[in-house]
Amino acid sequence: MDFNDKVVLITGASSGLGAATAIYLSKLSAKLAIIGRKDPNLKRIALYCEKTKGLKPLAITADVTEDLDAERIIKETIEHYGRLDVLVNNAGVIGMGGIKNSSMETYDKVMNTNIRSVYQLTMLAAPHLIQSKGCIVNVSCIAGTKPSTMALAYNISKAALDHFTKCVALELAPDGVRVNSVNPGFVKTNLLKNIGLSEEQLALFVANVVGNMPLKKAVEGDEVAALIAFLASDKSKSITGSTYVIDGGITLK
Ligand SMILES: NC(=O)c1ccc[n+]([C@@H]2O[C@H](COP(=O)([O-])OP(=O)(O)OC[C@H]3O[C@@H](n4cnc5c(N)ncnc54)[C@H](OP(=O)(O)O)[C@@H]3O)[C@@H](O)[C@H]2O)c1
Repeated sequence: MDFNDKVVLITGASSGLGAATAIYLSKLSAKLAIIGRKDPNLKRIALYCEKTKGLKPLAITADVTEDLDAERIIKETIEHYGRLDVLVNNAGVIGMGGIKNSSMETYDKVMNTNIRSVYQLTMLAAPHLIQSKGCIVNVSCIAGTKPSTMALAYNISKAALDHFTKCVALELAPDGVRVNSVNPGFVKTNLLKNIGLSEEQLALFVANVVGNMPLKKAVEGDEVAALIAFLASDKSKSITGSTYVIDGGITLK
């Protein structure tokens, strides 16, 4: 896979899967625009990427749920590189609670981050992707298709994202733009830590999830990054509207 001269914008690149994807693509010589809210973390990842092939990423500190920030993300990327080839909509949050113990605050935060911001960024990026005949990779989750009880807003945000992927793939296919998603099962990142799980609770959760997986091993961040890279590359030029599960086989159960 060759990303020479390809401009790739990754949201949520200051941590977890977005950071792993930025590092993976920097090794393939991609020109990166990386987005996150926590400036020190974003700068750390930018430096790490720069050390791989000497290409300095454009690091944009921004909140994807703010309309003006979303506009600035696309504007600064185009001003800096003059084009956009790949949009990776990865930034996401989880909020716990089912219908009996949820709140509208959780609903708004999760939906604004996981689907509204994706809608807006994709809308703003589309003209540039049409021009470059580029592509989009959305980072969804198996929670979008596998019902579960603990994170209702998160689950439905990812179900919406999967349908968004397919609808936009259909709309943009005549323009030569492909749209796909990766749908991981559990990967150890900061996602659950950020909702306040202690190390002990997290360890228990991980042991439970991994024990339940047919492959009995946790999915690693760079495996997800490799799948994102494949879907963003010319190797997948006939693939659009697809959702790729990477979950150690857990949805087989
Ligand atoms: N880990 C898993 O098990 C798993 C499984 C399936 C799907 N996913 C999906 O993978 C994606 C990445 O999650 P992760 O596991 O890598 O979690 P993570 O380590 O918590 O990273 C989340 C990233 O999203 C960014 N982000 C969140 N809200 C943002 C906002 N409003 N504006 C800008 N950036 C924002 C964070 O930036 P800051 O930290 O700088 O705020 C961070 O870079 C999410 O869409 C998640 O749903 C994760």
